[in-house]
Order: sequence, then C-alpha cells, then structure tokens
Amino acid sequence: MIRITFLSVIFFTIALPLYSAGRLTYYCSTDIPWCELMKKEFEKRTGIRVSMTRASSGETLTKIRAEKSNPKGDVWWGGTGDPHLQAAEEGLSQPYTSPKLGELHDWAKTPHQATGGKTVGIYLGALGFGYNKELLAKKGMPEPKCWNDLLHSAYKDEIMMAYPSTSGTAYTTLASMVQLFGEEGGFTYMKGLHRNISQYTKSGSAGIKAAARGEITIGVVFVHGAVKQATKGFPIVGVSPCEGTGYEIGSASIIKGARNLESAKKFIDFALSADVQSMSEKVKSYQVPSNKKATMAPEAPDVSSIKLIDYNHSLYGSKAERTRLLKKWDTDVKVLPR
Ligand code: G6P
Repeated sequence: MIRITFLSVIFFTIALPLYSAGRLTYYCSTDIPWCELMKKEFEKRTGIRVSMTRASSGETLTKIRAEKSNPKGDVWWGGTGDPHLQAAEEGLSQPYTSPKLGELHDWAKTPHQATGGKTVGIYLGALGFGYNKELLAKKGMPEPKCWNDLLHSAYKDEIMMAYPSTSGTAYTTLASMVQLFGEEGGFTYMKGLHRNISQYTKSGSAGIKAAARGEITIGVVFVHGAVKQATKGFPIVGVSPCEGTGYEIGSASIIKGARNLESAKKFIDFALSADVQSMSEKVKSYQVPSNKKATMAPEAPDVSSIKLIDYNHSLYGSKAERTRLLKKWDTDVKVLPR
C-alpha cells in the first residue's frame, strides 16, 4: 500500500508533467555547443523534453528525405539556408509563420517569403578562411589574403575543407566560386584548390578546428568560425578574401509530418526571440542574429565591412542547381589526383 502511494506521488509529480509538457525531436546543423545550449534552454523554459541529433546541413537534408514516409524529426534548426530551401522545394518541410517574424531583418524574411513560410532565417555568416599564424610563420608561407592565394603551391597539403555534399559550408564555397568566377572559372578554381587539400571532412567547421590544434595550416570556413577559435586563444587569423565572398542565411524549418507540431512551433518562436539569439555569444557563435533586437559580441566579425557578393540563394538553394553542382564537383573535381 505504502509502495503504491509512493509510486503514485512519483507519477503525478514528475512523470505526468513531463509527459504532458510534450516532446520534441530536434535536428541541429550548427556547432554542437550551440545546439546543446538551445536544447537545454528550451527544455528549461517549456518543460518539453528534447532529443537532439547533430549533423551537417547536407547530411541532415539527406536524412530528412530518407525519413520522408515516416518522419522522425520535428524541427531542423541551423545550418546553411540552401539545403533548407531545397527541403522546402521537395515538400520536406511545412509552413509556419511565427509571431516573431516581424522582429527579423529582411534577409531572414526572404527565405520565408520565397517558400510560402517553410523556412526562416536565424543568422547570417560570411564565408572565408582562417589560418594558423604560428604554423604559417614556422613553414615560411606567405599570408593568404585572397581566394586565389589559396591556389599557390606553397599551400600543397596545407588546406582542409569539407565535402560540398555533406557540408553547407563547403557547398556555399562551391556556389560562391561559381558566382565569383563564372561556371568555368569556378570549377577551374575548385580543381586548383583540390590540389592543395590535405583532407575533406564531413563537417564544415572541422578544418578550422584542426588548424587551431596545429594539425593543418588553413581551413576554409565561415569567418565567424575562425574568430571563434581565435577567441578561444588559438593562433588563428580569420580572412575575408579580397575578391569578395559568399554568405549563408542560416535557417530553421519545421519538418513535414512532424509528430510534435505544437512543440516544433514553440521551438521556432523561441529560436527567433531576441534574448535567445543573444545567448549565442555564450558559446562563441558569432553569426549575425536575425532578430533585429538581439545583441552581438564585440568580437563578432563586422559583416558590413566584408565585400559580399549578391549570392543568389533562390538559384543555388534550388534542387536542380544544387544537385547539378554537387554532381559536377563529384565527377570533375573529387576524382582528380592530389
Ligand atoms: C558552422 C557555422 C554555421 C554553419 C554551419 C554549417 O557551424 O558556424 O554558421 O551554418 O557550420 O555546418 P556544415 O557542417 O553543414 O558546413
């Protein structure tokens, strides 16, 4: 009798409130510390229990597509916007208009308008690269300042980047080179860069982390990723290339067929709030937040001083163009000897 009473107390005070508060299956495509901070804070504020999977942007798109007939995820937060746009086009995400939409910069509302509400911008980041200045000096290499500098034979086996198919960072690199130098020039560039690549990784930020540890000299990465390593005390210098560069609109989408739709909507409202976006500083994530009232760390790169190209997100986030470019990179670049 006493045992039943005790179990009942546990059930009504702990188990039932947690169950009724709901659940959320959350796919995250930015850096793990920020993914985890979002999970913890959301659980704390709502009582909703979150299960999280972190995978790169392209990988997550592939996973959501594979689960299409039996969706397991509810919300996809973070990662570059192009695969989110492709997910919207393929009918893998569903419309939602958060009451927070009006608080966002126009660049964050554009993907929402373009997809009938299926995805929305959460941050902006400029592409570039970063290098380990101690290794560079030790090896007597010139300081790279431009994209074209990275083709110099002095950097053979000294550069890391990710696979464009798995990583949003690497796809943004490929699409940016095509926009900067034209289709032929862009692929000639990627072939030249390939000669100097020591290793391709799955995740976009792996290269700059390896450079921070002194395992490689240069990582092709979003500039805020290089700044993050520098503020952690590593000898990393972030570069905004002289020719100009592309950028990402990091995005969030509700997965079509989400089993926990109300929790997913709450998560989007939470993720678009100024106070939540301002927390990114705690985990040294220095993207530009999409909520106009969110604060930015003083260390964050000043995107207004970077020469950004007029990146065509609707074209390069379309299924046909993204698929075509990825295939062409596989057949024309990946197979070449290094
Ligand atoms: C890092 C950056 C994010 C970006 C993400 C893409 O986490 O800080 O701004 O959206 O990379 O990751 P991926 O592994 O897909 O390149």
